[in-house]
Amino acid sequence: MKGVILAGGTGTRLHPLTRITNKHLLPIYDRPMISYAIEALVTAGVSDIMLVTGGTHAGEFLRLLGNGHDFGVDRLLYSYQERPGGIAQALGLAERFADSDKLVVMLADNIFELSVKPAVDSFLRQEEGARVVLSRIEDPAHLSHLGVPDIADEGPIRKIVEKPAVPPSQFAVTGIYFYGPDVFEVISSLVPSSRDELEITDVNNHYVDRGLMSYDTLDGFWGDAGESINAYYEVNDFVRRHGANGKRCEEAAAGAHITGR
Ligand code: G1P
Repeated sequence: MKGVILAGGTGTRLHPLTRITNKHLLPIYDRPMISYAIEALVTAGVSDIMLVTGGTHAGEFLRLLGNGHDFGVDRLLYSYQERPGGIAQALGLAERFADSDKLVVMLADNIFELSVKPAVDSFLRQEEGARVVLSRIEDPAHLSHLGVPDIADEGPIRKIVEKPAVPPSQFAVTGIYFYGPDVFEVISSLVPSSRDELEITDVNNHYVDRGLMSYDTLDGFWGDAGESINAYYEVNDFVRRHGANGKRCEEAAAGAHITGR
């Protein structure tokens, strides 16, 4: 399986911080945000990775990550999104890299407490279609900033609604997605949304409508650090206290001065 990490966008929800850098280079605890997405994939056994970025700070990723070897990546390729055209448009840039392999796609502002390896392994066994990972979130106001699946009990996803005024369930669709090589045909059939972007939720609903969408439900903390400045600090506080990607941070492990939660 190959990995695609999406680290573009203008990060307007974190202005003015993101006027001077790319959101995914902002710190989460002691490292730039992007390094957590790399770690999530590498520790799940995915080490052939393409990073898609854009905007005016693309060169900083190369400076930080280089050829990726120090981060456990065997082969790190880069692609450049000329204009912010949405998550699905950014993913489309990885078509030649993906070739005919299965893909795990990760939004680089998503931070997971536990390893994503179980979901990677599930998709390796999955014969067709796509897969998403859900996280339980009880607060409807929070859900209205995310993609929310319409599901009952543990049944199939009936639809994913992007940024719903009334959330159809208490789950969010997190920013880790699994596709076969057919995803690029789906992307080429999309029409831009009202915000003039190709939406990943439209890609996912293509599979939902055909009964080809599977999902895992996540244990542990999940946060989208780009959602708002408060979400950014919530993720920072969590990682500082508990670590991420199934690894406890050094301070938490040493029982240092961290208190609370
Ligand atoms: C994107 C997706 C949304 C998903 C979220 C997770 O939203 O469109 O469905 O729940 O990532 O981080 P965005 O961060 O682009 O608003």
